[in-house]
Amino acid sequence: MSDPSHAGHDPTDGHGLVVVANRLPIDVSVDEDGVVSWQRAPGGLVTALRPVTQATSSAWVGWGGQPDLELDPLEVDGTWLVPVPLSTDEVAQYYEGFSNDTLWPLYHDVISPPAFHRSWWDTYQQVNRRFAEVAAAQAAHGATVWVQDYQLQLVPAMLREARPDLRIGFFLHIPFPAQEIFAQLPWRRQVLEGLLGADLLGFQRAGGATNFLQTVRRFSDGTTRGPLVEIPTGNGEPRRARVGTFPISIDSGRVNALARTEEVRARAAQLRADLGNPQVLLLGVDRLDYTKGIRHRLQAYGELLEEGRLSPERTVLVQVASPSRENVDAYAHLRDEVELTVGRINGSFATVGHPPVQYLYQSFDATEMAALFLAADVMLVTALRDGMNLVAKEYVAAHSDERGVLVLSEFAGAADELTSALLVNPHDIDGMKDAIFTAATMDPRQQRRRMRKLRRRVLTHDVQAWSTQFLDALAEVHRTA
Ligand code: G6P
Repeated sequence: MSDPSHAGHDPTDGHGLVVVANRLPIDVSVDEDGVVSWQRAPGGLVTALRPVTQATSSAWVGWGGQPDLELDPLEVDGTWLVPVPLSTDEVAQYYEGFSNDTLWPLYHDVISPPAFHRSWWDTYQQVNRRFAEVAAAQAAHGATVWVQDYQLQLVPAMLREARPDLRIGFFLHIPFPAQEIFAQLPWRRQVLEGLLGADLLGFQRAGGATNFLQTVRRFSDGTTRGPLVEIPTGNGEPRRARVGTFPISIDSGRVNALARTEEVRARAAQLRADLGNPQVLLLGVDRLDYTKGIRHRLQAYGELLEEGRLSPERTVLVQVASPSRENVDAYAHLRDEVELTVGRINGSFATVGHPPVQYLYQSFDATEMAALFLAADVMLVTALRDGMNLVAKEYVAAHSDERGVLVLSEFAGAADELTSALLVNPHDIDGMKDAIFTAATMDPRQQRRRMRKLRRRVLTHDVQAWSTQFLDALAEVHRTA
């Protein structure tokens, strides 16, 4: 990477905080005439950073979500959004290919086989370099740069090389796999070296942090002492990086407040009425992804109907599956399988006007989601592997009425915190059937007892607390390094 002073960077200006993420927090669309428009897509991270971005000049470096689109930087809510363009070929190789058909399945315990292609890796490096260059040009002297997720694992080292003055954090939103699995990656050493450019590396679960430290010992030149990694620098003094666990959360106060509004409560009642006022309303809400265990959940539900433990007339499962990564084959196949299974269950158990599965291949806004959460008696989160699963936390935050039961996979990061949920192993179909049955028939006192504990956790550990803890820890590492 070129010296930032040669790349037009003036160290007297620039931003005090730079977030680097694959996506910008906006949805960009291009109409038939090529006219570009955008709207805010305020994910958790935007909310989390609001207190910081209000106090410091901040930039967010990311892709606009459309190939071959040159967008000008724009200011949204006080943050300078700096688009990184990606060509159609780069989207295919860096985003759909290496990020979502190599790293994603590898880091999720090879639920789907990862594909290893050298050309994808080349493009991943090129695109990571572009993100690093744009970030370097935005950062003021001594700024904090916070790099997000598996799409950008090479950025920390690239940034450090160009801008040793920066304080660099990295957070992995997805699981970090066991070393035997990570070992499959032909470029494992380069990925570790890329990550170790950060001062602080954050993981969702303690298990992910431990896995990372093991892979560092095995496949890099780094040595570890507790959560510290010492990286040889070639000039005597090793550099230090710290590894920590920072379970991400949601804006729980906002979800809680939204679900208490008259509008959402009325909508929840309407939804139940539209569904024929079922005795038991089960809900699944997922990106349509093979990590989410949607097929396992449908299998368990179908068997419960077949065995008559749940009544097809008085039970309904609403499954929201939001479209995701549709150009990746594994996702297209999953869609076919899920839709076939839904069709079979409805074909076998529906009565006229009452299908026991309501399948929605759509995305909904926050208000409709809050109403669905509030309406549901049982929430099914049956991921085979998941970094955290924020839907589980949203369901809890929406239930100020202290009713409802969360069935939660032990393979979701949220299981470490939400221990009062009914925890399940989604591979154990019989165990999951028992848990769903228990949830569907749980008495209100028991529901309240569990929900209170869950709410205590979710309402006190929100996404603002998460980002504050991470950024404070990053400041601390940098001070003592
Ligand atoms: C996961 C990843 C995020 C990603 C999101 C949506 O939560 O950790 O980095 O943005 O999925 O996926 P997409 O490919 O649409 O960005």
